[in-house]
Amino acid sequence: MNKKKIDINQYIRPCCRNFEPYVAGKPIETIKRELGLKNVIKLASNENPIGPSSKAVKAIKNTANNVFFYPDSNSWKLRKAVSKKFRIDISSILLGSGSDEIIELLAKAFFMPQDEIVVSEHAFIRYKMAGDLLDSTVVTIPMENYTHNLKAMFKAINEKTKAVFIANPNNPTGTYNDTGEMEEFLKNISELSCERKPLVIMDEAYYEYARSFKDYPETLKYIADYPNLIILRTFSKIYGLAGLRVGYGFTSRDIVDYIERIRPPFNITSISQEAAVASLNDLSQVKKSVRMVNEQRDFLYNELKKINLMYIPSAANFILIDVAPKAGQDVFREMLKEGVIVRAMDEYNLPNHVRVSIGLPKQNRFFITKLKKVLNRKRG
Ligand SMILES: Cc1ncc(COP(=O)(O)O)c(C=O)c1O
Repeated sequence: MNKKKIDINQYIRPCCRNFEPYVAGKPIETIKRELGLKNVIKLASNENPIGPSSKAVKAIKNTANNVFFYPDSNSWKLRKAVSKKFRIDISSILLGSGSDEIIELLAKAFFMPQDEIVVSEHAFIRYKMAGDLLDSTVVTIPMENYTHNLKAMFKAINEKTKAVFIANPNNPTGTYNDTGEMEEFLKNISELSCERKPLVIMDEAYYEYARSFKDYPETLKYIADYPNLIILRTFSKIYGLAGLRVGYGFTSRDIVDYIERIRPPFNITSISQEAAVASLNDLSQVKKSVRMVNEQRDFLYNELKKINLMYIPSAANFILIDVAPKAGQDVFREMLKEGVIVRAMDEYNLPNHVRVSIGLPKQNRFFITKLKKVLNRKRG
């Protein structure tokens, strides 16, 4: 076969032709290699630098010798542990290789080309990507003060709307919608006159950090009343298991049933399952992480104020910083050369912002020193 004569474009689904890949935070080793740096810190993917629970590490080691077996495809032990911890029936639990996989599974199971998917401007970009992947129409609603405008999102719903995504708190803005807003939104949805009410996909990846904020909604209790509600959580953030890829969620039995039918077998590794179970039983790691993020968020706010940089107050473990009139990309590149990986926000339509994850005290001090240097250099 003559390779040159085959035009691969003729095979690709039109909606995938111009697909932009997800821009992931750069790994430390990549930057060390590319820029020849010795000291590099990564504050780019909202991971937990305190690391996983020691119980999880022990579980990982204990499972290592058994990895020649396929994992339990149903993740039974993990399902039971999540069910016990959150006092919710096992039939209401979703599990995936990261909450990211659950988002994609929901899209594959439910989204069609004639559907509309409502998302917020500056919302976590994987929602739009999920809609685009299935060739649905993604309707983007402007934010209000960098926050999901639930009233406007509700107004955008029509007969074609299959799903509404809400990130609470949102990545990358760090803002959240409170209990009153959320209850009103869900009530409005349930009272819609259209026959098929949209799915409400509530992404709470940063729940553990946000839950102590004023009027942050405890949404789990709504599951019983709203069968079209899906709540997503993850072990990647506060539990410090991003490298093991485990996400979970809560919804009605029927939605779980459909997702289970299309889920790839063995999607959560045996090591990941054991580590996640062990993490759920370690409250101290969670408390320690929340305490550090609360303290360090205040430290960073103060330092940013001192250098007159605007930021969006955050209920999560990252801060969105306005570096205007500088371009976020330039600050990102300059910071890389200084050994600090942050995230530019171009794909979020925030060209003058960078997002920084809250690190360990030492890392945050390093970040501020380098940020001052980069901004002074650029101003001078
Ligand atoms: C809002 C939000 N949802 C979901 C995810 C995906 O998390 P994971 O797939 O690691 O569970 C992220 C990761 O950055 C996120 O910020």
